[in-house]
Amino acid sequence: MSRIIGVKARQVLDSRGTPTVEAEVKTLDGVYRAIVPSGASTGVHEAVELRDKGKHYFSAGVSKAVNNVNSIIAKAIKGQNSVSQKKIDEIMIKLDGTPNKGKLGANAILAVSMAVCKAGSASKHLPLYDFIGKLYGVDPKVMPVPMCNVINGGKHAGQENSIQEHMLIPSGAKSYSEGLMMVVESYHQLKVMLKKKYGASGILLGDEGGFAPKQLTKMEDRFSLMLKAVKKAGYDGKVDLAIDAAASEFYAKGKYTLEGKKYDADQLIRHYEKLASKYPLVSLEDGFAEDDWKSWVKLNSHLGKEVQLVGDDLFVTNTLRIEEGILKGAANAVLIKVNQIGTVSETLDAMKMAHEVGWSSIISHRSGETEDAFIANLAVGTNDGQCKFGAPARSERVTKYNELLYIEEDLGEKAVYPGKDFRKIGL
Ligand code: PGA
Ligand code: ZN
Repeated sequence: MSRIIGVKARQVLDSRGTPTVEAEVKTLDGVYRAIVPSGASTGVHEAVELRDKGKHYFSAGVSKAVNNVNSIIAKAIKGQNSVSQKKIDEIMIKLDGTPNKGKLGANAILAVSMAVCKAGSASKHLPLYDFIGKLYGVDPKVMPVPMCNVINGGKHAGQENSIQEHMLIPSGAKSYSEGLMMVVESYHQLKVMLKKKYGASGILLGDEGGFAPKQLTKMEDRFSLMLKAVKKAGYDGKVDLAIDAAASEFYAKGKYTLEGKKYDADQLIRHYEKLASKYPLVSLEDGFAEDDWKSWVKLNSHLGKEVQLVGDDLFVTNTLRIEEGILKGAANAVLIKVNQIGTVSETLDAMKMAHEVGWSSIISHRSGETEDAFIANLAVGTNDGQCKFGAPARSERVTKYNELLYIEEDLGEKAVYPGKDFRKIGL
């Protein structure tokens, strides 16, 4: 039993050099810190990220959120038992009192929620992933299949009208570490090819560490080059493809403008169908905009059997929206981002709701990330089976992949890698 004896926060920087909140929770066991990530292509239904709107840091300072932790939140949770995650999260939700954490800020609340989780795991003398397993009610053993973003586009690369993320899924690997090696080697082969084709400007990077070659304007060309890189690395047939279209970003007035061409919903569905029949495209995220439910339902009826259709901006890790999606049959998978909802407990609730109806979920980073590897533990702690942590490069991405290497070692013989079965929850 470890009572919380201190809570404080400070303003630190994320991977884009933008301020974010770090919280610190103190118990007799030690001091536990957590840092909140931040998105660029954020969904309009996400919980509120409190920003100062002041003179410094281009109005993006978080001193108000930091003050909320240091005063209001600290006072309310000091003395609580650090292992009581749900109770502490509920105290903070109540204290905020708004449906979108607009008063205290989801960035303030989440930083404390994750730090409490780390303190709780230390108090129980458990690795963080194991402690999360207890909270979720599973015995952690499933290593996630990584979705590695090797070509960045859209808002993450300063490009308009283009697909945001092009990812490699090493589903033919036998273990997580082998899968990671496959995508790392393919990533480096891709770099060599891009450099040869387009020179230095072809290997510039986007926010998530993938290449952002502005010359590669067609999706089919990007897919072909990715598959060539995989082949050159020696893994032909062992790596599948995924995209995050982030379609809210290229949607206006009922039309989707992609690669300079306008599509209505039916045309875009045909476009996706064509891609899925020509390439090993097994997962499609945000194929339609965040409130275009009708098109999502249609897409699901066309492609939902063969392809994982993932709602990110559509669901924003929120049980109310996930429930709506389940009732409508709008998708078959949910992207999970802790800062879209703002507490560890509500994140687990969102996953439970999806898993109970047989939907898969993917634990995801944000484009603005930090050195915090909490989400790697969340992926294994829930036996989720999939993770999306960006390119296998740049420290804010690699820290998560590296944490998974440690967890795989810690699990030893018990570790299971789902491979082609990455959509089967809990395996
Ligand atoms: P974001 O992008 O963190 O900029 O929102 C990630 C995603 O859309 O999945
Ligand atoms: Zn997304």
